[in-house]
Amino acid sequence: MVGMKGNRYKIINCVFLTVTLLSIVGCVAKSGLSLAATETGLRTVSPFPIGSSIRYLPFQNDLRLQRLQQLHFSSYTAGSDMKMHKVMPEENVFDFTIVDSIVEYAENYNQRLFGHNLIWHSSTPNWVKRKAKNDPAWLATFMHDYISEYVGRYRGKVHGWDVVNEGLNTAGGGYRTESIWYETLGPKYIEMAFRFAHEADPDAVLFYNDFNVERDLDKFESMISMVKDFQARGVPISGIGFQMHIRMDIPNSVIAETLKQAANTGLQIHLSEVDIIFNTHDDSRGGGVQNFDTLTPEMRVAQKKKYYDLVTIYRTVVPKAQQYGVTFWGFNDRDTWIRRFFDIKDWPTIYDDNLAPKPAFWGVLQALE
Ligand code: XIL
Repeated sequence: MVGMKGNRYKIINCVFLTVTLLSIVGCVAKSGLSLAATETGLRTVSPFPIGSSIRYLPFQNDLRLQRLQQLHFSSYTAGSDMKMHKVMPEENVFDFTIVDSIVEYAENYNQRLFGHNLIWHSSTPNWVKRKAKNDPAWLATFMHDYISEYVGRYRGKVHGWDVVNEGLNTAGGGYRTESIWYETLGPKYIEMAFRFAHEADPDAVLFYNDFNVERDLDKFESMISMVKDFQARGVPISGIGFQMHIRMDIPNSVIAETLKQAANTGLQIHLSEVDIIFNTHDDSRGGGVQNFDTLTPEMRVAQKKKYYDLVTIYRTVVPKAQQYGVTFWGFNDRDTWIRRFFDIKDWPTIYDDNLAPKPAFWGVLQALE
């Protein structure tokens, strides 16, 4: 009898313990903490620096995002905080407050800080455009002073810079002519920016960065001939940034071929803004086309393969010494710029809206391992 009672007690106790354990696991899962135990930090397995862009201010109040950012990334790129309209909102007003905080954050978590960007038509403040129209001769002096003050201040702290961003036409060959820099200084503004940046920090790794160059072959040709001309004339360029905002249907073979040809220059190759969308857009603000409005399990698995393929192509095609790294343009679907910018629903990143890893995350991890 005693034994039976003891057994019943043990069984009740056991059921009670199991229920308690399950509810603890449930709570932890809801809070997202359980994921930590199963996730390997990408940075711990990656053979090259691995990064993500981050918008610093919202990030400050988001401890879950910070935990994931610290777990996974060894390289930090600012989403917009380091662009000209942020750093110099008004004439003669340099505002380095946020960049200083970013430098400190990156140092604290042992992350390489990548500077995005110095000269970009799209982040040139209106006051610069107005002034250059009235006084074209002023723009070259301004460019010099801006770059030398900014790059000089962070010499040895910012590891590399996108010196010129998107200097080529959106589609097809040739320079982007609708830019105050091109309109005022001609194509020479691009090499000027590289020379000024090199003068301000001779050790910084200096990139030309652009989008669609992995698939628009005319644009790619324009980029490569510009880069080769720079190399032949001793313009201090050290790297090519492929933004790599791609779509699921961009052929791997085309990506592999352009990366290979770019690597043949001997320069550093950075996949600088990776994300992979399902829908399409026309490359302009608000220009999204909603072909898919739900993310099915099949699409999640297909995206895992695409992420796996992209990282594998980078690893195999770009020689090790030229692997500057892979940077995601944000790493969760909740915060992705794609939705805001193109006004479209999409799921381009490796973490979902609830900050849980998607199959795409495991695809990246497998390709890095
Ligand atoms: C984007 C930011 O993510 C958005 O928040 C902002 O509204 C526009 O710029 N190519 C680039 C990045 O080089 O600077 C862009 O970032 C995305 C496209």
